[in-house]
Amino acid sequence: MSLLPVVKYGDPILRSKVDEVTDFSNIESLIDDMFDTMYHESGIGLAANQVGVKLAILVFDIGEHGIEGDKEVIGELFSDPKIFINPLIVESAGECSMEEGCLSVPEIRAEIIRAETIILQYDAMDQNAHSETFSGLSARVLLHEIDHLNGKFFTDYLSPSKRMLIQKRLKEISLTGTPTTGIIL
Ligand code: NI
Repeated sequence: MSLLPVVKYGDPILRSKVDEVTDFSNIESLIDDMFDTMYHESGIGLAANQVGVKLAILVFDIGEHGIEGDKEVIGELFSDPKIFINPLIVESAGECSMEEGCLSVPEIRAEIIRAETIILQYDAMDQNAHSETFSGLSARVLLHEIDHLNGKFFTDYLSPSKRMLIQKRLKEISLTGTPTTGIIL
């Protein structure tokens, strides 16, 4: 288990579509490292291309973020790690707005409208196909991470005028990894 560097906005791997996983024999240590990295960075979801691997894998743990109250006290009790391989949204319904951020786009947060409920088809580690319904924060994180696997960022959904406001910051991230000032849109 080890921490992997998180690839930032501007790296071409985050704009390319990843490959389907067909060989499940070598992905276990990558997935362990992805969880370590996600927890270390205080993220609630992470796509494989965010750690430089062009495969359709994402890890997810909204754990305590779905719970009100003192997170220090709750600790890891509500940790609920999930692995999604070759995820595909087969149905989506409703609409809701939530503030999003991204480990690959540090210091920029924005309200984004996405589907409220999704039906997701994916492979598990045992290579069996699953179909599961998610809504609320779970659906939100999955939609955000699946976008990564398709080369998309949450900032792509912003209006042209809001994109203008982050243009310079995105450039700074691609050059230095972090913008000089943060912004919430
Ligand atoms: Ni992200």
